Amino acid sequence: MKLTAAALLACVPSVAFALIGNDWRFASAPADGLNDVTFPFNIAKAPHKAGYYFAQQFNFHNVKEVGYTGLQPRPDSRGNEVVHAAFSSFQGGTTTNHPNCHTGADGGPGVSCAVDIFGNYTHTYNLEVKNVRGTTWRGTLIDTVTRKATVVGEWTLPAGAGKIVNGQVGFVEYYTWNDGKPAHDCRTLPFTQAKFYNPKSKTKGSSGGAITKVYEYGLCIGKVKFSATQLSKNQNIRVGYKNV
Ligand SMILES: *[C@@H]1O[C@H](CO)[C@@H](O)[C@H](O)[C@H]1NC(C)=O
Repeated sequence: MKLTAAALLACVPSVAFALIGNDWRFASAPADGLNDVTFPFNIAKAPHKAGYYFAQQFNFHNVKEVGYTGLQPRPDSRGNEVVHAAFSSFQGGTTTNHPNCHTGADGGPGVSCAVDIFGNYTHTYNLEVKNVRGTTWRGTLIDTVTRKATVVGEWTLPAGAGKIVNGQVGFVEYYTWNDGKPAHDCRTLPFTQAKFYNPKSKTKGSSGGAITKVYEYGLCIGKVKFSATQLSKNQNIRVGYKNV
């Protein structure tokens, strides 16, 4: 799913199951935007099950629709820990010829890219969104312990697209419930936990990347146990009923 400013402002219920939103922003950034942004995540305490998506959104100057990138837990495979990373654009006219990508995003226009790796949940993963040339952007998953980098995908925005706008939102989504059924019992939401770290950028003139706010969002506001602990480098987001 994607969070839209209109939905956030109007508290319009979304059919997609975002539960927690966050705001991110750099204290200073060039007026024409950022060439790269890195969003670090740690999912060490997330159960190894499919269902949750931990993501940060971003948008581009002169482009209407957002992109997003993030991590999804997966079940272990033959003793290996599996980490799924995604990198998508919701903008119509976005093109790709990368093998990890296909046309369309959440049933609408855009491009979706994803990769599964054998990873290690105790490691913090960086998701780097970086301009490679013109209006082409690459998403890369980087294990901050081993430094191993895996390209998630690459796509090209329509001509005229600018750099990354300073400031957007992110979310924790339980996408298992994006099934169009109106009434899910928020009390049956499974536990998860993740750390969303402050964004970083190598773009000249950028500094002070921060997650400035974390808030409940969507159809389970006030109905799930939620906590966000603000630490110096991350917000520690917990959501769900068990073990919270
Ligand atoms: C995960 O990484 C930690 C720290 O780097 C290491 O101690 C542990 O053995 C690793 N676990 C697996 C399953 O590789």
